[in-house]
Amino acid sequence: MGVLEDKARARTFYKYLSQVYDRINPFIWNEEMRDEAISWLDIGPEDRVLDIGCGTGFATEGLLQHTERIYGLDQSPHQLSKAYQKFGKRGPVRFHKGDAERLPFADDTFDIVWSSGSIEYWPNPVTALRECRRVGKPGSTVLIVGPDYPNNTVFQKMADAIMLFYDEEEADRMFTEAGFEEFEHRIQQASANSPRAITTIATVPDR
Ligand SMILES: C[S@@+](CC[C@H](N)C(=O)[O-])C[C@H]1O[C@@H](n2cnc3c(N)ncnc32)[C@H](O)[C@@H]1O
Repeated sequence: MGVLEDKARARTFYKYLSQVYDRINPFIWNEEMRDEAISWLDIGPEDRVLDIGCGTGFATEGLLQHTERIYGLDQSPHQLSKAYQKFGKRGPVRFHKGDAERLPFADDTFDIVWSSGSIEYWPNPVTALRECRRVGKPGSTVLIVGPDYPNNTVFQKMADAIMLFYDEEEADRMFTEAGFEEFEHRIQQASANSPRAITTIATVPDR
């Protein structure tokens, strides 16, 4: 397990990173990639969407262009305070401070469950993916953007020491164990030298 796959450590890390997050983020995960991933979903104006690990609200902002029924959840008060500066604490987005592994929502609540760049910090990703399945309505979509496992052995060692990186095979295992039956993976990359993002689009099965 990587050093940042520890909830308290990840919170401390984001206490500092939140100050510069929006300036650094575009080198790895930019608006074009975000909007492309959003275009893979069919979000209607009445759809209720959950953004897990919403952070400073970068993806939330893109999702808001499609529906105003957005819920943002993050475990970092510092990241959330940056999001409040953008949208207001009680504005169009319903914010929750909480844990991806214990979502404070009833079963079958959301039409779309989205999470970008957060799964790599979850100590128990399968538990959190089960939560995504639980709060998603049957037939709804769960979209998870994560970091693709590097193919160079030096980078693999570094990646493993920091946080969760996974390839398609590992994603297959996690999503299957979490109870998903239908899913596919897509790869995105900001530039040829930047890290690749692995996005899984899964359908919530019938109960
Ligand atoms: C790289 S940022 C991604 C922010 C945003 N989703 C985006 O697309 O830019 C990762 C976020 O996941 C949050 N996070 C990490 N572990 C979490 C957990 N167990 N539950 C909820 N949020 C978590 C962090 O606090 C951080 O704000």
